[in-house]
Amino acid sequence: MSETARMILDGQEYEFPVITGSENEKAIDISKLRGSTGYITMDPGFKNTGSTQSGITYLDGENGVLRYRGYAIEDLAEKASFIEVAYLLIYGDLPNKEQLEYFSDSVTRHTIVHENMKRFFDAFPLGAHPMGMLSSMVASLSTFYPESQNPNRDITDIDLTIHRLIAKLPTLAAQAYKHNVGLPTMYPKNNLSYVGNFMHMMWGVPAEDYEIDPIVESALNKLFILHADHEQNCSTSTVRVVGSSQANLYSSVSAGVSALWGPLHGGANQAVIEMLEAIRAEGSPLQSWIDRAKDKTDSFRLMGFGHRVYKNFDPRARIIKKAADEVLGQLGVNDPVLEIAKQLEEVALNDEYFVQRGLYPNVDFYSGIIYRALGIPTDMFTVMFALGRLPGWIGQWKEMTENREPIGRPRQVYVGATNRAFTGLDAR
Ligand code: CMC
Repeated sequence: MSETARMILDGQEYEFPVITGSENEKAIDISKLRGSTGYITMDPGFKNTGSTQSGITYLDGENGVLRYRGYAIEDLAEKASFIEVAYLLIYGDLPNKEQLEYFSDSVTRHTIVHENMKRFFDAFPLGAHPMGMLSSMVASLSTFYPESQNPNRDITDIDLTIHRLIAKLPTLAAQAYKHNVGLPTMYPKNNLSYVGNFMHMMWGVPAEDYEIDPIVESALNKLFILHADHEQNCSTSTVRVVGSSQANLYSSVSAGVSALWGPLHGGANQAVIEMLEAIRAEGSPLQSWIDRAKDKTDSFRLMGFGHRVYKNFDPRARIIKKAADEVLGQLGVNDPVLEIAKQLEEVALNDEYFVQRGLYPNVDFYSGIIYRALGIPTDMFTVMFALGRLPGWIGQWKEMTENREPIGRPRQVYVGATNRAFTGLDAR
């Protein structure tokens, strides 16, 4: 017998079906609630609300488990290439040799962006934040590729759009950086790997041959994989909601880039380094920062701590912390900020306030330290997150489209003024 949930409202009993996921996750299906009872549910921030049934990422926040399409994040980060993981997230399985070759070739052939887009960059002020430039550039891709706007979603159009977007995001990200610092942009080199090509466009200059450092390439590959998907987070939900209106993929992902930028989400990686730098510059004891984070009258939060879903540990943070130690060691970088981060983690993890609320270092706490060691400027950190998250956004958008999900449109409880008679200006 299938499970149901019973609810009593105004003395009347209603039954709602229970949905069970493949990992035994449970949900009460209230999609018919308003129709049968007249009530809606209230859940600001969607803390208890499932918006979809998804087959992409499994996350068990209590036990720190994260899997893409059934594969453990630890295995993928250690053994896979980012482009393989992108294929996995978007198409459902790891690619075989031919599939990987076809996908990589197709992505490689679309890396150049239209020359006219350079003029968009020219119009941005020097020092413009790369995330602002990136979301504008991604949205504007739809104007160059109008077939992406086809709401009937022909499968060839979708695949072409997907390959173009994966191919062009690193080019646009590197161009945003070059514009930000006033250096000439580099064209992609299609004999390089996906990550290697990004490095070449980011750090290469026309006067010199740029040599790919395999330590940096491998670290970026790992970081991109760790960021590649995270089920229905803020930016991914944004991509799905925007896409549910049948907006094209470029516009949907551009909205995702904007959502990611905020310091409570992907922007936390920039905010963490700025916080650690401030701690270092001020030289005040770490406890005073912890006290500020606990003080409800102070808006300061310990950036890189806490997570909506992980209440025990963030498995990505564990991998990144280890990688930070390795990468800094391999590159011979001695970053005093890493020491401050470790001390801060130690103090916070032993503090009752953080323990009680399940506040642990998240993915952003240590990622900025690796990015710094790799020579990436602070305001490019969230762009790096976006590069990694792209296949997740695409896979989730594709799933939502293929499932023909309804337009995302929450309800509300109105608490404003009731009916008022209009009065003319003289009477007010
Ligand atoms: N420092 C101090 N207190 C905190 C923090 C923090 N970083 N995070 C949560 N709390 C407290 C919060 O004040 C609340 O306390 P109380 O129960 O006494 O009111 C309690 O912990 C629960 O917090 P919440 O805000 O209700 O939890 P949430 O699930 O709505 O927010 C979060 C999750 C990630 C937005 C939040 O933990 C936060 O602001 N962290 C700092 C920003 C950050 O590192 N963001 C990156 C998240 S991981 C990558 C990503 O998703 O992009």
